[in-house]
Amino acid sequence: VSHAARRGRSVGVVYLNNAATAWPKAPGVAEVVAAAIEAAPSVVGRANGDETGVLDGCRAALARLLGLEDAARIALTAGGTEALNLAILGAGARAGDLVVTTEAEHNSVLRPLERQRRVAGIRLEIAPLDGDGLIDRAAFEELCGRGPRLVVLCHSSNVTGRVFEVEELFATARAAGAVTLLDACQSLGHVRIDYGSCGADMIAFTGHKGLMGPPGTGGLAVVGDLKVEQVLVGGTGVRSDLLVHPPELPTRLEFGTPNVPAFAGLKAALEWAEGEGATHARAAEEMRERLVEGLTTTPGVRLFGASGSGPATPIVSFGVDGWSAEEVGYALATGFRIACRTGLHCAPLIHRALGSAPEGTVRCSPSGFTSEEDVDTALGAVRKLAGAA
Ligand SMILES: Cc1ncc(COP(=O)(O)O)c(C=O)c1O
Repeated sequence: VSHAARRGRSVGVVYLNNAATAWPKAPGVAEVVAAAIEAAPSVVGRANGDETGVLDGCRAALARLLGLEDAARIALTAGGTEALNLAILGAGARAGDLVVTTEAEHNSVLRPLERQRRVAGIRLEIAPLDGDGLIDRAAFEELCGRGPRLVVLCHSSNVTGRVFEVEELFATARAAGAVTLLDACQSLGHVRIDYGSCGADMIAFTGHKGLMGPPGTGGLAVVGDLKVEQVLVGGTGVRSDLLVHPPELPTRLEFGTPNVPAFAGLKAALEWAEGEGATHARAAEEMRERLVEGLTTTPGVRLFGASGSGPATPIVSFGVDGWSAEEVGYALATGFRIACRTGLHCAPLIHRALGSAPEGTVRCSPSGFTSEEDVDTALGAVRKLAGAA
């Protein structure tokens, strides 16, 4: 019995909500977090309570994953949202500067940008999507032609799972002189990201989804000599003589006492993935395909976006005729003990293009720990709701 099946069975739930947060976490994570909380601080303490070099080890594992030579270019953050805020607020866009993003984005991109529009006076343009939830290339190129200061793209939609061709889109943005920011929160761990070739000046990521670490962990990787402006400053445990926050990465973008136990857990997850990650990602992809196939052949079920075609992370969004998305989620949870997610999924703008506005979609997101039996239980339940079984 797999790690997941053991956990799933112990609580009697089919967990198909890994795009919200991976569960179970990678094997060993819980134990490492507990041990890090229990461990006594050493007499000769390192900075910030990081007694055993957990933070450096975590950055090193992330650098290996991203193909980044200098691990110091990765600032550890309290999640993807914090990383995106630091990047967006620190990118140097001023009143009158144009910032371009897309309708596929999560609120952790849209809200900081909208705030900058209202408070700092940036001009914000949002590239539309087509009916498959793909970025309208012509519109995007036209917006880049207007000379944006910053272009922000998500790597993979958290509603459709679709992976965007960010290399090409960022090439257009960079040719126009823009700083580029990739929201890799839904993709890292599922899709290989090579820092050198993806065209992003900054990559924001989270630790609790595809990386299968604890929530409240994440980071921002910054390339080359880009000087991200500091928006949050304070104690760092180093250079206490300075009245200004230290300017060097990673300390430049790190502040306060870090959540060392959580990063110990993320480090353990990353090290586990160095051995098992590729197999795990393939297994998740197989479960996505099984879901897509089963839902596509169920009368009364509509798949949204490009869920069924092209590269995608393990996410499937759908609707059932005669039911609201919320009703489907409620029925799956209460009638079948299946955990999925319904609604807008914090990505309010994509639904117009997909045709799922205003109520959103039912989203099932397996992981490599999801069993065929789990998927078949979910498919059987949806068929019942659709009146097809
Ligand atoms: C596409 C996307 N960006 C950003 C985030 C925010 O990440 P976090 O939950 O670590 O703040 C999420 C997840 O909630 C996401 O799906």
